[in-house]
Amino acid sequence: MKILVTGATGFIGKNLVEFLSKPENEIDCLIRKTSDTSFLKKHKVKLIKGDLNDKNSLKLGRYNIVYHLAGAVGSKGYGHYDETNFKGTINLIESLEGLDKFIYLSSGSAFGDSDKIINEEMESNPCSDYGKSKRNIESHLLKMAEKGFPVIILRPPIVYGEHDDVKRDLSMLKLIKLVTRGNYFTIKNSGETRKSLCYVKNLVEAIELAGKSEKKGEVYFISDSSPSLDELAKQIAEIENIDLKKKNLSIELLENYAKLNEKIFGESADLNTRVIKGMLTTWICDSSKAKKELGWKPKHDLKKSLKNTINWYKNAGILK
Ligand SMILES: NC(=O)c1ccc[n+]([C@@H]2O[C@H](COP(=O)([O-])OP(=O)(O)OC[C@H]3O[C@@H](n4cnc5c(N)ncnc54)[C@H](OP(=O)(O)O)[C@@H]3O)[C@@H](O)[C@H]2O)c1
Repeated sequence: MKILVTGATGFIGKNLVEFLSKPENEIDCLIRKTSDTSFLKKHKVKLIKGDLNDKNSLKLGRYNIVYHLAGAVGSKGYGHYDETNFKGTINLIESLEGLDKFIYLSSGSAFGDSDKIINEEMESNPCSDYGKSKRNIESHLLKMAEKGFPVIILRPPIVYGEHDDVKRDLSMLKLIKLVTRGNYFTIKNSGETRKSLCYVKNLVEAIELAGKSEKKGEVYFISDSSPSLDELAKQIAEIENIDLKKKNLSIELLENYAKLNEKIFGESADLNTRVIKGMLTTWICDSSKAKKELGWKPKHDLKKSLKNTINWYKNAGILK
């Protein structure tokens, strides 16, 4: 099987390359001139230089499966997201000499917020610039599917696990640090808010299954659990064998602190108003379609997944 992985130097891409590294697969990875390829050099993969934002730099052949993971995830403004997530995806497709299957890793953000449990039948209404760019390319790919383009779109929610060392607003690392340092806090009812998650090793299995599936023009939510913030904190405390200390803070106090933090540290502020909004929002998606149609059965439960993640952070020296 001749495979192209884009975004192979990123968090999910590294896990996918590790998982797909099997004798039957011949893997090419699209990398930028500036990409850190030290991880990929430990694997039997071919590195192909190219930038999604520069069509002339993309010299690609024919593939059985293209796993398109590369994307702008933490940038400023719609323009930058659109450039990479929308136009970059089109540049990629137009640069290929042919393919049998195109797997696009979209995001739960392409759907937007909802107080109901979300499924693929429901109308999307993305609220962030990132989500809008993901939804726009989804719509474009689905139109191409009507003309025979063999695409499957996967929408994971918050993903966590090994190799997740990228700075994000709502990251598992932040929660693990708060709990293990005795600083876990809630505001209003944030302890009861639930969020769909996916452990990266469960996600890469779904990605591979999508590549092998006969389905085309389908969208799937890929989530393996939807715990509350308190449940997550409790599991982390149990794994680390510590008593969970919880403080309930005044939201006004925290909002003022977040605003000040943003003024001083700008985009890099750890606690910002987006984090506070995120803490108070429940977001749950239903993955039964992926389980039924792709045969996806997440193998790793929440406890085991959190344990593996904590161990990886410790071994990588990110968590003391
Ligand atoms: N992490 C999550 O929680 C999550 C949740 C839902 C969906 N997703 C989606 O999953 C995909 C992978 O996410 P991730 O968390 O692994 O992201 P990540 O760690 O930030 O990695 C992004 C990857 O995309 C590559 N890339 C970015 N711009 C590019 C360009 N112009 N040309 C070529 N390559 C480019 C990066 O290459 P460099 O190494 O050169 O920077 C990197 O390999 C993204 O499409 C994201 O939208 C992620």
